[in-house]
Amino acid sequence: MEAVLAAASIHRTNQKSIMAEKVIIFDTTLRDGEQCPGAAMNLREKLEIARQLARLNVDVVEAGFPVISEGDFESVNRIATEVKGPIIAGLARCNPNDIDAAGAAVKPAGDRARIHVFLATSKIHREFKLRKAHDEIIRLATEGVTRARALVRDVEFSPEDASRTEPEFLAQVVQAAIDAGATTINIPDTVGFAVPEQFGGLIRYLRDHVRGIDGAVISVHCHNDLGLAVANSLAAIQAGARQVEGTINGIGERAGNVALEEVVMALKTRHDYFGDFFTGVNTQEIVKSSRLVSRMSGLYVARSKAIVGENAFAHSAGIHQDGILKKRETYEIMDPREIGWGETELPLTKHSGRHAMAKRLEHLGYRLSEPEVDQIFIRFKEVGDKKKFVYDEDLGALVDDTMGVAAETWQLDYINVTSGTNTVPTATVRLRRGDEVLQDSAPGNGAVDASMKAVDRILEQRGHLLEYHVHATSSGKDALGEVTVKCDFGNGRLVSGKGASTDVIEASARAYLNAVNRMLSDKFTPTTTASEEALESVGV
Ligand code: KIV
Ligand code: ZN
Repeated sequence: MEAVLAAASIHRTNQKSIMAEKVIIFDTTLRDGEQCPGAAMNLREKLEIARQLARLNVDVVEAGFPVISEGDFESVNRIATEVKGPIIAGLARCNPNDIDAAGAAVKPAGDRARIHVFLATSKIHREFKLRKAHDEIIRLATEGVTRARALVRDVEFSPEDASRTEPEFLAQVVQAAIDAGATTINIPDTVGFAVPEQFGGLIRYLRDHVRGIDGAVISVHCHNDLGLAVANSLAAIQAGARQVEGTINGIGERAGNVALEEVVMALKTRHDYFGDFFTGVNTQEIVKSSRLVSRMSGLYVARSKAIVGENAFAHSAGIHQDGILKKRETYEIMDPREIGWGETELPLTKHSGRHAMAKRLEHLGYRLSEPEVDQIFIRFKEVGDKKKFVYDEDLGALVDDTMGVAAETWQLDYINVTSGTNTVPTATVRLRRGDEVLQDSAPGNGAVDASMKAVDRILEQRGHLLEYHVHATSSGKDALGEVTVKCDFGNGRLVSGKGASTDVIEASARAYLNAVNRMLSDKFTPTTTASEEALESVGV
């Protein structure tokens, strides 16, 4: 340990000027994170996450890509209207339509509104995607930033695929963006190609070659294709970057974006090495944020994931357990309580009243109307009758399960399944939509399959189940099973759905029905649709 600390202090004295300096945390869970296949979220889920990001105290929330769909515009606009605290950013390509849509969407945030314009700059993108020469790229960047600056004071510019762009040309484009008024320059490692020393070198190169760059904030945006996103972001900070863009749990395109919780905790835990850089993040909200994003996006966190994985602070080796009991720091470099672990309060039971449940939901960060609380309380009582304790995770699953169902969509009224070793599994399902009640039965190759087929039969449709995950929200035989599905209904959309129950067959039927309802609802941003095709066509 002494040797590590000594090396750190030598390193520190060798650095030019390291003082306590803030690193701005820019969260793009709702934009780049949502681009992760299967992670599409609806408006309610996005608002819930944005509010939690405000409690986490990130500095910037990139709420979406407004021009892409009506749903995206609405969610950015609602977040800009309702979420107080962070800067709210909307993404735009360097064209008037995109920029105007982003400007209109973020407008309600007032002086916390940011437009984030991007344009690809690397040779391969210029030649094959954009088919544009150097001077056209510079002209488009200048025009884009100028137009955005006419709408808001806070404009971020990203030369997409910066890490694979010729440094001289990159410096010219960045210079043009700064001259046009960009206040933040973001350097994306779009395809996760960079390695730390080289990426840090690129940031230094830009600082040395772009006039006035120190008047702007230098940001980095690292993808994790080589598993180097955290290392690259930290190297960039050491080289002068003062904003890091990433997502909660590292969700995002392909191998994901940098996991913000990892960067934040690396800076905090190793301040001896990083020279007192700090972030404004309220680290005790990290676990809660991670769980919320995982539930809302349907993307489970690997048990061994750093900081937020279930095993991140679990010590199984006897020798480690013994050491921890004698002195926690023997095997723990961070105090789990600092991150928000171990904060679960006494679970509720079926005897808990509506008031206690509503208070707990409020504490967990849910903002629900009285009728919504009533609806959840009905489910809470049903579940409370079946299991001894209702944990915070169970409540979260119940909120998803109940609130995922809009009043005008189909609700599961009844399900009965017979299945066994020598029986053809058969499900009878009754669905309700207002006063309309429909019932049918179907056989299947298993109880889950039969229940989904019964739903299909009732609604005269055919869905294909592409992914199915079941997850116990707590321990014990009476745990709630939370099911996530991804389905293809044959109309060019991949739709995910979630459902929870102490009975996993019922949870499966609920999850499938949730996907059906999402598919039927207009405002839903599907997992794959025109919006994703649009994204693909611009290579985001
Ligand atoms: O990865 C990327 O290049 C992006 C930009 C839009 C910043 O997401
Ligand atoms: Zn990205």
